[in-house]
Amino acid sequence: MSDYVKIFDTTLRDGEQSPGATMTSAEKLEVGRALARLGVDVIEAGFPAASPDDLEAVKRIAEEIGNPSVGDVGQKVPVIAGLARASANDIDKAWEAVRHAKFPRIHTFIATSEIHMKYKLKMDREQVLEKIEKMVAYAKSKCEDIEFSPEDAGRSEPHFLYQALEVAIKAGATTLNIPDTVGYTTPDEFGGLISGIMQNVKGIENVTVSVHTHDDLGLATANALAGIKAGARQAEVTINGIGERAGNTSLEEVVMALKTRQPVFGLQTGIDTTQLNRISRLVSNYTGMVVQPNKAIVGANAFAHEAGIHQDGMLKHNETYEIMKPEDVGVNQSRLVMGKHSGRHALKTRLIEMGHLLSDGDLEKAFNRFKELADRKKVITDADLEAIVVDEFYRPRDIFGLDGLQVACGTMGLPTATIRLRGPDGKIHTHASVGTGPIDATYKAIDAIVHMAPKLLEFNVHAITEGIDALGEVTVRVQDKGGRTINAQSETERVRVYGGHGADSDIIVASAKAYLAAINKLLVAKMESQSGQNTESEITLVG
Ligand code: KIV
Ligand code: ZN
Repeated sequence: MSDYVKIFDTTLRDGEQSPGATMTSAEKLEVGRALARLGVDVIEAGFPAASPDDLEAVKRIAEEIGNPSVGDVGQKVPVIAGLARASANDIDKAWEAVRHAKFPRIHTFIATSEIHMKYKLKMDREQVLEKIEKMVAYAKSKCEDIEFSPEDAGRSEPHFLYQALEVAIKAGATTLNIPDTVGYTTPDEFGGLISGIMQNVKGIENVTVSVHTHDDLGLATANALAGIKAGARQAEVTINGIGERAGNTSLEEVVMALKTRQPVFGLQTGIDTTQLNRISRLVSNYTGMVVQPNKAIVGANAFAHEAGIHQDGMLKHNETYEIMKPEDVGVNQSRLVMGKHSGRHALKTRLIEMGHLLSDGDLEKAFNRFKELADRKKVITDADLEAIVVDEFYRPRDIFGLDGLQVACGTMGLPTATIRLRGPDGKIHTHASVGTGPIDATYKAIDAIVHMAPKLLEFNVHAITEGIDALGEVTVRVQDKGGRTINAQSETERVRVYGGHGADSDIIVASAKAYLAAINKLLVAKMESQSGQNTESEITLVG
């Protein structure tokens, strides 16, 4: 059996479909590029039947990331997968989207647990087997690479599951993915389920067995690893573990467990682990889903040693308390990197070392931001540079840009914000509002200009580095009161939630940037769903 575990990333499908993780197509493309650079084997780019926007986004990823590009010599080209329920319409849509990739895959699924078959599908076992046979064969008539998932496999009756998998193999499936859809199993049970499949399903040696686990009981990574130990050679994962409900298995945890405990598993992946920290921040900034500080591998405290006894041990020998090197996951420990007197060349070199290859024009913009910050802050760290780059270049397309902000607040008088925004028509719009505090006043002034008032669901602020002069980072999540789209697992619809991120040494400015970023995403999504019927300058403005 091969010692290579394929990494199938579903951040853009199972991750993006979770509440609040909505990304625009430009952001999905950027995440797709980062996943390809990271070295994932398969990118599940979306669920094309969900909406025309989803189909279009998967198609763009298939075209632009699923094909070798001129600049990326030697970079492996990932398989691009599209999800489809076991129906001809879904499979047609998935194929329409992924067929543009060099290596396309259709991933089709139907539930095999009694509870799902009886209440959700209203089908009996025979009908489900027949559907698997027909739909896998239909998908195979279009695409060579077919993945089949028996949804809720974790709660399916094992002998029926074996039967379903055999039918899928006979009909042409090349990968069999075993989902613990509701995160119900324990590692012993899930490992046992995979062993049972390896031993009892005819033809299993000719296909790849995959694991797909959810974290409802906090066991997703343990279950995935148990499945891999039992013979699975593909793991379905997401960056930061985002996904339905409690989320999916996190890519960084599975990959670092296999790497750090190499003697236990004897397996390898194709992931460049030094990019893990960066891609985690990218996904967090785009989705507005904050990574908890104590999150394994990518949390802000994952390599921080606070207790005196730990610090003492670390100073004597770092392996006393550290099982992984921070630099192996892209956390750079050298705090002082640059200062006020550093020049363009030093900045360019440092950014290249951090993986950001900027054009001359973009480097100039980054340099100006760096100088501005260096005037206010003595020590500029990698984290500050990362924040500048993310803020300047990974921000969603500006429909409205921040041109100026002035705030009066304190214990005397009403908190008041005066804001100047550059609109899509290129004109400057100014508005002043009062609020319960400076941020409320700022957001009200923005609402008045953009002529909408999305519901603010979440607001988070944190300092990127320590010290009173640190850059402040704000993430917000807002809910569009109108937008809805179909969910992959059922016919239910979901409300669209957009995340925004902003960084500045002034936290009110960072807050304004974050809110505007979320509003810009919402507007871009509206424009995309009107399929270009509206141009940016047609957006209604007041003020
Ligand atoms: O959790 C699940 O069952 C899924 C399938 C569609 C693979 O996401
Ligand atoms: Zn799932």
